[in-house]
Amino acid sequence: MFNQPMLRDDALKGKTIVITGGGTGLGKAMGTYFLKLGANLVITSRKAEVLKKTASEMEKETGGKVLAVSCDVREYEQVEHVLAEAIKAFGRVDSLLNNAAGNFISPTERLSANAFSTIIDIVLKGSVNCTLAFGKHWIKEKQSASVLNIVTTYAFTGSAYVVPSACAKGGVLAMTRSLAVEWGRYGIRTNAIAPGPFPTKGAWERLLPGDLAEKFDFKNRVPLKRVGDHQELANLAAFLISDFAGYINGEVITIDGGEWLQGAGQFNGLEAVPDEMWDAFEQMTRSAKGS
Ligand code: HXC
Ligand code: NAP
Repeated sequence: MFNQPMLRDDALKGKTIVITGGGTGLGKAMGTYFLKLGANLVITSRKAEVLKKTASEMEKETGGKVLAVSCDVREYEQVEHVLAEAIKAFGRVDSLLNNAAGNFISPTERLSANAFSTIIDIVLKGSVNCTLAFGKHWIKEKQSASVLNIVTTYAFTGSAYVVPSACAKGGVLAMTRSLAVEWGRYGIRTNAIAPGPFPTKGAWERLLPGDLAEKFDFKNRVPLKRVGDHQELANLAAFLISDFAGYINGEVITIDGGEWLQGAGQFNGLEAVPDEMWDAFEQMTRSAKGS
């Protein structure tokens, strides 16, 4: 069931949604589902060729309308250009999905200052640029709207070896909660999703190169013993953008099969204890009672 579409067919009918990083991976999966639910779509990222190819695949699969506009989210003027093109094509924009990201694994002390700021610029400054440009427009036009930010679970736990990404995603989460309050009075809802592991070429090649994918098999870190399916993320994103989620504002929803909690609970490692040893352990703990 979890890999099946969830919402009714017209759930996003007439809405125009802009997805950054919409040409690949999770952005592409979410965008394809939004189209199936009746939305118009604008996808943006740096690589025009990738966007064009994805847009034509999406239109063929769904019969919807997709505008591809290349843009580096680090550049505010380019973001303003995306907004202008979206309005020219569809008349209005209803939702912004901040999904573009950059990331690599590295011990932090090996990173140059430029490497660190490259990730901050894509993830934090890029999300800020988009949210600011679109928010100013919506407020000026007195138009209600919604922003959905894709973060990670280490936005709230932190994580070794991806420190620039953790800092940037933590900042995006702070922006989510701050603007939910500040812009709520304009009818702008701001929410976030914190996905656990959802295999994509972009993430896996950069974060699990070589045989790391086998050695550091994500599904073993997840209590449900599987990775995420793109459709289940798309279901959640579509719901949060839709009017059915009209009273959800300032929320971050984790969709990770319990992964981050698995790492957090002090005794969680006891799952390694074989069933037959629990009889002996019980006897020992019971006999310790009276001493
Ligand atoms: C150390 C590195 C590096 C690496 C690049 N740099 N790769 N440092 N380890 N692997 C350094 C460079 O040497 C340079 O610093 C600086 O970073 C900028 O590099 P550029 O290549 O010029 O940057 P740019 O072309 O803007 O590319 C950005 C990128 C690239 C992040 C480096 O990988 C990219 O475009 N990524 C986009 C897609 C992506 O990353 N997707 C994954 C998202 S997954 P110097 O000092 O030499 O100039 C994700 C999932 C999280 O977030 C959770 C998963 C479970
Ligand atoms: P992905 O396919 O590599 O997606 C990243 C996208 O960002 C690409 O389309 C890339 O396109 C775009 N991008 C990068 N830099 C950009 C820039 N400067 N300006 C505009 N666009 C830029 O990886 P993904 O796994 O689908 O990740 C999507 C989102 O999910 C990210 O926010 C990521 O942090 C988050 N996430 C993923 C996982 C997972 O398990 N996959 C887990 C937690 C969170 P261009 O190269 O064309 O610019």
